[in-house]
Amino acid sequence: MLPSASEATDTEPAGITGTAPHSTAGAGVVAEGVRVDFPSPDGSTLRVLDGVTVTVPPGQFVSLLGPSGCGKSTFLNAVAGLVPTSGGTITVGGQQLDGLNRHAGYMFQEDTLLPWTSALDNVLLPMRAAGKPDVAEAERLLELVGLSGFSRRRPGELSGGMRKRVQFARLLAQDPDLILMDEPFGALDALTKIVMQQELLRVWDLAPRTVLFVTHDPGEAILLSDRILVFGSRPGRIVFDEQVGIDRPRGDLSQVMKRPDYRELYDVLLHRLMSPEDLR
Ligand SMILES: Nc1ncnc2c1ncn2[C@@H]1O[C@H](COP(=O)(O)OP(=O)(O)O)[C@@H](O)[C@H]1O
Ligand SMILES: [Mg+2]
Repeated sequence: MLPSASEATDTEPAGITGTAPHSTAGAGVVAEGVRVDFPSPDGSTLRVLDGVTVTVPPGQFVSLLGPSGCGKSTFLNAVAGLVPTSGGTITVGGQQLDGLNRHAGYMFQEDTLLPWTSALDNVLLPMRAAGKPDVAEAERLLELVGLSGFSRRRPGELSGGMRKRVQFARLLAQDPDLILMDEPFGALDALTKIVMQQELLRVWDLAPRTVLFVTHDPGEAILLSDRILVFGSRPGRIVFDEQVGIDRPRGDLSQVMKRPDYRELYDVLLHRLMSPEDLR
């Protein structure tokens, strides 16, 4: 059995409570022949992505897996509209992307909370930016991610896992149609990481929406996703597209890890990631 969130550390709060955020299937993403070139200091061009083509239907949870430097973060940034494409098109929710993607909520590996203000104020931030601050809704989202009673604490007074929960509540406060997560749990210790994976799935199960989740961990990709896209070495493109056939809700993830189909897919993914010829 996995520990509950409250058992993860002395100060970790209880697990998910409350009702789901606004329910939506999310926005689908279609990438066609996406290319991204960056200028190099010597005047040449670094081609980071070349020919990335994929259709992600609304509500699908997709992990992007691949060797370091293959362009996973760059692809996510392109879908977020933070990095311009040099070729190809990206369509989100049926509309071709041209500038910042307003459907998307982004969660990075780094701690991006404002350290000088409370968890509540951090969650209110996107609501204020949208001109609709709603303290009751922000409190509800903090409760949803298991942080009731912690809303007045500043990030420095919270554990690493709890700060991730605040970041997640802040992302939900945007009510995004598309969730982009770039190794969000990469800096957490192993136990907190699996608690957070479990919590992410619990919240997602309440209101599934499209997720693009970057990870370098095949196990994390299988536990969370409906589908796994493996990127080849730079210039990155998709070399392997695999459905995960494990039913939802997935329940106790430590039990999922014992399933033969989990182990089988883990071995396939690991083999591919470790075989340069499969990544070309
Ligand atoms: N803004 C940028 N300018 C120049 N090069 C970049 C920029 N962003 C990423 N790169 C380069 O693109 C490559 C892919 O980076 P990244 O997308 O972060 O890979 P991954 O997330 O798969 O590890 C790396 O070689 C990186 O140095
Ligand atoms: Mg990256």
